[in-house]
Amino acid sequence: MKANYQIKDILFGDFKAGQQVIIKGWIRSRRDSKAGFSFLSVHDGSCFDGIQIIADNKLENYEVDVLKANTGCSVFIEGVLTESQGNEQSLEVLASRVEVIGWVDDPEHYPVAKKRHSFEFLRTIAHLRPRTNVFGAITRIRNRASFAMHQYFNNNNFYWVNTPIITTSDCEGAGELFKVSTLDFMNIPKDNNKPDYSHDFFEEAAYLTVSGQLNLEAYCLALSRVYTFGPTFRAENSHTSRHLAEFWMVEPEIAFADLNDATDLAEDFLKQTITTLLNECEDDFAIFNQHVEKGLIERLQKISHSEFVRMEYTEAVEILTKAKQKFEFPVKWGLDLQSEHERYLCEKHVNGPVAVMNYPEEIKAFYMRRNDDGKTCAAMDILVPGVGELIGGSQREERLDVLDSKMQDDHLRKELWWYRDLRRYGTVPHAGFGLGFERFINYVTGMENVRDVIPFPRVAKSAIF
Ligand code: 4AD
Ligand code: MG
Repeated sequence: MKANYQIKDILFGDFKAGQQVIIKGWIRSRRDSKAGFSFLSVHDGSCFDGIQIIADNKLENYEVDVLKANTGCSVFIEGVLTESQGNEQSLEVLASRVEVIGWVDDPEHYPVAKKRHSFEFLRTIAHLRPRTNVFGAITRIRNRASFAMHQYFNNNNFYWVNTPIITTSDCEGAGELFKVSTLDFMNIPKDNNKPDYSHDFFEEAAYLTVSGQLNLEAYCLALSRVYTFGPTFRAENSHTSRHLAEFWMVEPEIAFADLNDATDLAEDFLKQTITTLLNECEDDFAIFNQHVEKGLIERLQKISHSEFVRMEYTEAVEILTKAKQKFEFPVKWGLDLQSEHERYLCEKHVNGPVAVMNYPEEIKAFYMRRNDDGKTCAAMDILVPGVGELIGGSQREERLDVLDSKMQDDHLRKELWWYRDLRRYGTVPHAGFGLGFERFINYVTGMENVRDVIPFPRVAKSAIF
């Protein structure tokens, strides 16, 4: 018998009662009935549901194996599909053979034997949490979301560019970079009391990238529509529910485009991706709707049909100044918005996604395009309830003289000679944004912490597993 199918194929494909099947998976629960049967709920991760196995006490190994098979045991089952008596599922398996492949040591203490655990506890067993319903669902939604994003770009003539993970430019937000080096820590060569990187692997200081944007721009100015989707690294010491030291970022970049075009793209991209997810992960979303955020599905449907509010930074500051709420951090034109301000704008004021546009030039990165008012630059952030900043983007400064005046130190101008070249040879207005993939997963599942939507979270003081 060929057995290259899974439980998902049986439950959602054209399998019928009477057919012989093989099931390979893990036991979620066992219930023994007085009528001489045991019921095993077996999952293989292929879909939210498992399949029910009926094991008759006439099986030759019933007492030695079936009656000892606990939650977590891996099993190989042969049997025949039968119509289910209960109304929950249409098919179950009447087993002719139940073989335990892997036993669970010390079943009393199997960490995920219990039905409900706190997310905090599950973080301490990140190697076992994929076995729970919620983490199975997150994993499948995460996979489908990244696939849907690639699909969106593919349908719209974007090319996926694999920008480097190791970089020598430290320009985006100095101070948050992880160094990459092969120097001997015990014996670092020095020049003028500073590390001498000319002896290092790349003969200069190198880092893990914080964003693929600068490299991506080079490809944008040749292929017009491109994106990068990969891991990014920030050595931020922020202990919040929204920051990881290693996270995944989706960054599209479009040529012949301004800030409004980038914001239109972001809005369309979010809505389309959410619509695809709702259509294709119905079972997995049901659990979040039920146990994590009541009304989640309705909220997501509403987003995919409504228009995002857009407001100027200046207007946002006015709204915050007039707000009755007391904020911890000051609000004043010229200061950056803190997370509490962002949350107020999208949660209290708009109650939905909001794009804040044209921030003061002073507080934003050098590559963002200077606006004609001389005070602001063409930057935008998309803020969403429950998460805060989901997307950060901008129109890029395409004028060499203005770019030079924005790169304040000489060192930057020298190091980024190739980035300046892009403005010397056939420059065009272009724009793009970055979406934090884990924050997106939080947004669509209602999960509150980015550590719970990435398989093995890396944050300050913790990179176990
Ligand atoms: O706003 P950021 O820093 O923008 C950039 O890096 C630009 N170069 C993107 C571009 O224009 N191509 O980061 C983009 C997004 C944020 O809005 C946030 O969602 C997410 O990345 N992000 C993080 N997610 C998890 N952990 C962190 N430490 C994050 N830092 C940023
Ligand atoms: Mg940002």
